[in-house]
Amino acid sequence: SKMADAKEERTFIMVKPDGVQRGIVGEIIKRFENRGYKLVACKMCRPSKEHLEKHYADLSKKPFFPGLIQYMSSGPVVAMAWEGKEVVKMGRAMLGATNPLDSNPGTIRGDFCIDVGRNICHGSDAVESAKKEIGLWFSAEELQSYKSCEFEWVY
Ligand code: TYD
Repeated sequence: SKMADAKEERTFIMVKPDGVQRGIVGEIIKRFENRGYKLVACKMCRPSKEHLEKHYADLSKKPFFPGLIQYMSSGPVVAMAWEGKEVVKMGRAMLGATNPLDSNPGTIRGDFCIDVGRNICHGSDAVESAKKEIGLWFSAEELQSYKSCEFEWVY
């Protein structure tokens, strides 16, 4: 059905090292669960600089790139794939603006941080980049498929 197809969109969400260190992992997971999204992959890992350079390849020419790689490799992260209706767009809305000072209260960044260089979470910016990022961070076996509810209209 159309409803079931629309629910299959996936996004890549990551709690960055500062989010892990501050103990906000559960808060971020809770918001996506509460909204009705389905967790299909989740792991804590300590990504290498090489891996992060691939993840942020599009930003390699930016002046903040070295600092970004340094920050992102400074501790473990929690990498996740979430599934559901328009989850890429809604995930970005739930995270807030890149610069937390532009993030509305009620968003994750708008509620928990003030520094663009320590903005606690990542979310894919488009369906295509979500596919690339999920492929970069997860193997096919790490992506789970399961039925979360008997009724497709109950989230
Ligand atoms: P970007 O992909 O532009 O934003 P988003 O994470 O919202 O998709 O940038 C990636 C990360 O780089 C961003 O989350 C924080 C960091 N960054 C800076 O440190 N300084 C900056 O000026 C920008 C634009 C980003």
